[in-house]
Amino acid sequence: MDEKWLTEVFRWLHRNPELAMEERKTTAYLRGILVENGVRLLETGLETGLIAELGTGGGPTVALRADIDALPVCEQTDLDYASRRPGFMHACGHDFHAACMLGAALLLKAREAALPGTVKVIFQPAEEVNRGAALMVATGLLDDVGLFLSGHTYPWYPAGTLGVRPGPVMASADRFFAKIIGKGCHAANPERGDDPIPALAAVVTAAQSVVSRRVNPFDSAVLSITRVAAGNTWNVTPEAAELEGTVRAMTEAVRSDIRRRLESLVSDTARAYGCTAEFRYERGPAPVINDGELCRRAAALARAQGLAVEENPPSMIAEDFSAYLDIAPGAMFRVGTGGGYDNHHPRFTADPAALMPAARFFAALAERELRRLAGE
Ligand code: NI
Repeated sequence: MDEKWLTEVFRWLHRNPELAMEERKTTAYLRGILVENGVRLLETGLETGLIAELGTGGGPTVALRADIDALPVCEQTDLDYASRRPGFMHACGHDFHAACMLGAALLLKAREAALPGTVKVIFQPAEEVNRGAALMVATGLLDDVGLFLSGHTYPWYPAGTLGVRPGPVMASADRFFAKIIGKGCHAANPERGDDPIPALAAVVTAAQSVVSRRVNPFDSAVLSITRVAAGNTWNVTPEAAELEGTVRAMTEAVRSDIRRRLESLVSDTARAYGCTAEFRYERGPAPVINDGELCRRAAALARAQGLAVEENPPSMIAEDFSAYLDIAPGAMFRVGTGGGYDNHHPRFTADPAALMPAARFFAALAERELRRLAGE
């Protein structure tokens, strides 16, 4: 394996994007390369995604995680290896992640006899729909992992730069839904009904005070109402009005506090307007909280390998990598891939020059952490 070969792998993946839960060709392609190189694969029982295993097969165990799914985005780059599937694109760099961790797996394969334990390399499906990590965890094949490592493309740093931030780096992402139920009537006779629309408007306005007045200013959170709906004509007061939105937070405490306050605000406001309320709150991924000591060791290793290290800002976007951190500590790093267009943008690109340095970094970090866990 060399840089040219790994770049070709990345280009193949970029040309062949597949949506979450449909990554069959991607899985077959990665499996083919791993098997050809004598890497063991674990039986996940899943149709897409893979877990490769290197080393002794016994403890201690470190995991490297890549995600492999693409997005329903129409690519607008002028790359000669642009997507061959119109309407589908690797616009978040998961092609880069897969190639990078494949590179790391093959580097570790070459050192397999020297590994004092096991490295599991996860090629996870369905990150974009927040399902894949939970599926991988549910296989039980990761229960013995003592440390999880991952990286994500970052267009705001050039190739050769690693973003390392201890503590919370990615937010939780929850979805809420509220229905205000009143009593419909003729719009000319408001006294005969209980209009849910002023109640809904009051909820929308009051909800803005949850983050500004109820969250400690030194904590961060977002509460966005993204959809409101009520009524269908001009002279009928409707029976009900509904809204939906998202809550993002960097800690579990802030997350559950916002949920509690939002729920009571909805029901109490509805009651004040003579209405009742239904409230539904769906918990998505938890915040990603990086292990501080691990970040310190990773930054030192990255510098020793000639990478520039930056303390990347946190993000209110979510990542289901947090599901692995329920098993063991770990960290997600930002891999500088240049380009200048945001992740998910139709012109997003990841600089292949970042591939080999990142693969080397993750292989070396996995081996070092394995030695540390083994007490060497
Ligand atoms: Ni992504």
